[in-house]
Amino acid sequence: MTYEIVFLILLSMISDILSQCSNNDVYRNMLEKKTLNFTQIAGRVGYAVEEYDVITQDSYILKLFHIPGDKTKPVLLMHGIIDCADTFIVRGNTSLAVTLARAGYDVWIGNTRGNRYARRHVYLNPDEDVEFWDFSFHEHGFYDLPAIIDFVLDRTGEKRLSAIGHSQGNTIFLVLGATRPEYNEKVNLLIALSPMCFLNNLQNVASLMVHSMPVLEQIYTIAGQEEFLGDDTIVSRMFRAFCGCKRSYGVCAYGIFFPIAGSDPDEMESDFFPTIVAHYPTGTSKKNAVHISQIGMKKKFLSYDYEFRNVDVYNSSTPPEYDLSKVTMKVALFAGKNDQISTIRDVKLLRSRLPNVVEFKIVDHKRFNHIDAVWGRNVHKYLFPDILEVLETYR
Ligand SMILES: *[C@@H]1O[C@H](CO)[C@@H](O)[C@H](O)[C@H]1NC(C)=O
Ligand SMILES: *[C@@H]1O[C@H](CO)[C@@H](O)[C@H](O)[C@H]1NC(C)=O
Ligand SMILES: *[C@@H]1O[C@H](CO)[C@@H](O)[C@H](O)[C@H]1NC(C)=O
Repeated sequence: MTYEIVFLILLSMISDILSQCSNNDVYRNMLEKKTLNFTQIAGRVGYAVEEYDVITQDSYILKLFHIPGDKTKPVLLMHGIIDCADTFIVRGNTSLAVTLARAGYDVWIGNTRGNRYARRHVYLNPDEDVEFWDFSFHEHGFYDLPAIIDFVLDRTGEKRLSAIGHSQGNTIFLVLGATRPEYNEKVNLLIALSPMCFLNNLQNVASLMVHSMPVLEQIYTIAGQEEFLGDDTIVSRMFRAFCGCKRSYGVCAYGIFFPIAGSDPDEMESDFFPTIVAHYPTGTSKKNAVHISQIGMKKKFLSYDYEFRNVDVYNSSTPPEYDLSKVTMKVALFAGKNDQISTIRDVKLLRSRLPNVVEFKIVDHKRFNHIDAVWGRNVHKYLFPDILEVLETYR
């Protein structure tokens, strides 16, 4: 009986929150799927975007955005996990893509397979063919990045590009450099924001998530669900319907985002929160989430662990470690003191394993966490000038 009363009270609180939301434009547009896309956001701040389809060697179709600029040596931006190109432009005229464009750079913004701009394949249907979802960040590095990089170099006639990654957007460059060493030559410099590689020191909720992944994996497998937090999955729809409302900020920002990534309410304010929720999460594979949790649990930067199938796949009972000594491209690492995922200790460990780290910076902002580099309100003041400086130094 008491449970039923608690349940009814909760239900009435939720419906109260939601009824107040329906007057809000961002919220209504989001539920009606009228959220602005990358090209539209850029258009609002005065930049025309070219859209391209890049096809990978294994036939995935990835949308690539381009904001043309005069400076030679193009700059490629790669988003993190369950994210997409939008992350680099959601803040409009203070976002990283626009900041680079304003500084004259030729900016290319990529997407990895599985997100809202890359849920396409030449002959597989993501809604029907489970093989579509048979990938992790390994394939992002091994197939997606080479296709994107070669496309940009071919279009621009350049031999090398500079790259800026956020979170898993860096992991994939490490996989690329380790598994296809010839691509080290094509990357002039990787600016690694909140880089994800070793997850030996995950904090609090991030650690809990990694350790609960095996159970979650079972649930997904039983439900026959290979897509993870895609736009049209039930979990994402429920998340959007509830957290996309400004009034849910307390519950969702303080209850979900901050515990996972690190808390910085000044940088992710309640007014802007619904906009984030409209763009994030936007899908990856269950396999990718599992691969990341394996790295966290085994505390090694390993290939995907197929367990009893490892011998077939790798000719070894354990998955091989990615050989970071082969990642010879120049890397500039940017870490944050309050980052619960890419902790300073893990980024220092990465620095000690990479042969060509040219910069190691701890962002000078006390609460700088895992998400501020892309979504922070003031990063254009305290972080982007450093990024522009490093880009110029190693041009
Ligand atoms: C973004 O929206 C515009 C306007 O509706 C549309 O022309 C364009 O194809 C969209 N781009 C993507 C990548 O969805
Ligand atoms: C962004 O646009 C707003 C409103 O037009 C303006 O007040 C602000 O100065 C702009 N910021 C930058 C960094 O240009
Ligand atoms: C598999 O591993 C064994 C033992 O390390 C080695 O002798 C053999 O040549 C390997 N086979 C292939 C196909 O690489």
